[in-house]
Amino acid sequence: MSEKKTIFEQFLAPISGWFVDWDKVRELNSSIHWESETDRLRQPNLTYPAYYQRQNFHGIEGGYLNASAATSYDPITRYALPPNETWVRESVIHSIRARPRRILDLGCGTGSTTLMLKQAFPDAEVVGLDLSPYMLVMGDRKAREAGVEIAWVHAKAEATGFDDESFDVVAASLLFHETPEAIARAILKESYRLLRVGGEVLILDGHQHTLRDNPWMMDIFEEPYLQEYARGSVDAWMGAAGFGAVQTEQVWGLNQLTRGVKPIAPGEPTATEAEPDRTEPTWASAPSY
Ligand SMILES: C[S@@+](CC[C@H](N)C(=O)[O-])C[C@H]1O[C@@H](n2cnc3c(N)ncnc32)[C@H](O)[C@@H]1O
Repeated sequence: MSEKKTIFEQFLAPISGWFVDWDKVRELNSSIHWESETDRLRQPNLTYPAYYQRQNFHGIEGGYLNASAATSYDPITRYALPPNETWVRESVIHSIRARPRRILDLGCGTGSTTLMLKQAFPDAEVVGLDLSPYMLVMGDRKAREAGVEIAWVHAKAEATGFDDESFDVVAASLLFHETPEAIARAILKESYRLLRVGGEVLILDGHQHTLRDNPWMMDIFEEPYLQEYARGSVDAWMGAAGFGAVQTEQVWGLNQLTRGVKPIAPGEPTATEAEPDRTEPTWASAPSY
């Protein structure tokens, strides 16, 4: 049986050499000793969820559990976040109202947003968590190149193993469109458990309304859960997880940023609703990336 090819496979993959320097990607790939690098970060007892293992990403066989997904991710992603990757990612930084001491980036991938969080809040302890040790290797290399200290953790976003109320900010960029709805909801529940009262959750991803209204966009990449994501509402999922002051804002047209705050008790007004936060906006002094 012939499978329907994605627009990526039909049209974009053949011309990807125009915008991705594949020789450089291959060179990077072969310069890394993957076995020792992934062993250093791998949690040997981790069992991968079935939905994750059978996932193909942007047409790459084997999903994120291989080296080529990790080395090609950044060169491809810079074209997937118009008008500019940095501007889109900055929406996460700009939405943080307080001055966090501990930040967790779930599904951090190669750490692009994680690094920006650390650079915006240099005094905070920043943790990047992902299910792919290959993606974590790339994040670790980028952090070392940038001279910033980030802790990389190989774990599931829906069951992190961290203590209750141990973070001030939990963020996830471009994670939810790659998980079934039940997992996205479980990740929000876990984020609620991990946050201190008044802590902020920030979810950056594709704009659900725009995706719903333009189904052809979902054919571009091979993303098995994108339609499920587009049909849902991160805003509603966040409310159901117990968060207050939930708001979704469109980010440069094609993306959205949903922010919620952990209230004093479920259903109570959040600290930001009850009393406006007077903390100096730390992002104003964020460096340019
Ligand atoms: C599209 S990438 C986004 C990476 C990064 N956050 C960014 O903004 O570029 C999705 C990432 O989520 C990870 N991931 C998917 N499901 C996950 C889960 N349940 N727990 C932890 N990481 C997960 C994948 O391994 C991958 O690195």
